Amino acid sequence: MQGRIITFEGIDGAGKSTQAQILYNYLKNYFDNVILLREPGGTKLGDMVRDILLRENQIEPACSTETFDISITAEFLLFAAARAELVRQVVAPALQEGAVILLDRFIDSSIAYQGYGRGLAIDFIDKVNRAVINGIEPDLTLLFDIAPQAASSRLQRRADRIEAEGLIFLETVRQGYLKIAAAEPQRIRLIDAALEPQTVSSMMFEAVKPLLINFNRIATYV
Ligand code: TYD
Repeated sequence: MQGRIITFEGIDGAGKSTQAQILYNYLKNYFDNVILLREPGGTKLGDMVRDILLRENQIEPACSTETFDISITAEFLLFAAARAELVRQVVAPALQEGAVILLDRFIDSSIAYQGYGRGLAIDFIDKVNRAVINGIEPDLTLLFDIAPQAASSRLQRRADRIEAEGLIFLETVRQGYLKIAAAEPQRIRLIDAALEPQTVSSMMFEAVKPLLINFNRIATYV
């Protein structure tokens, strides 16, 4: 029995992590095997990469090559290493067990942030991503789209990060995401994340319904 993978993408402050948590809480009522993961993370190496690149609980700007003097290529390869471990240790086995896997960020984050955002060659990122995921593709990707200005007002407690990244950088990332979505309309569903959080949730539920309606479940999924 093969599981399902739903990925959550968008710029910082788009609200995707909140929405992923809402979907996770909801789906747990209907499916006995639902897992929520975030990138980088979910494995020992993933947590270490998160610490190196994102420095949680510290004032330094997240994911800033300036602060840590890490090349863009190295930054990408660290994200990719974390991804490789997550796929091998957690995602692949869970998929085999028939889990519904919610992934807060995945392959598209690298293309949008390191590719479109930082200018790393997209075909290189694509090749590494392919090797890393080893045929494990998302069944559905929810792209939470919002203007950086609107996103920054949601990120009050993390204003340092958004300031450090800069609104122009995030707009470039956002435009990158929109290009990825335009190229893969079958896989990627665009959700207007500027709407009221409840409306965004309803759109998310509608988007996942076709994927899960006939899937192995423990209660009637409505
Ligand atoms: P985010 O997903 O917003 O996590 P949190 O809610 O803990 O802040 O932060 C992850 C950051 O890492 C975000 O700025 C995007 C960045 N990132 C990349 O640049 N490339 C990647 O491949 C991944 C997975 C994340």
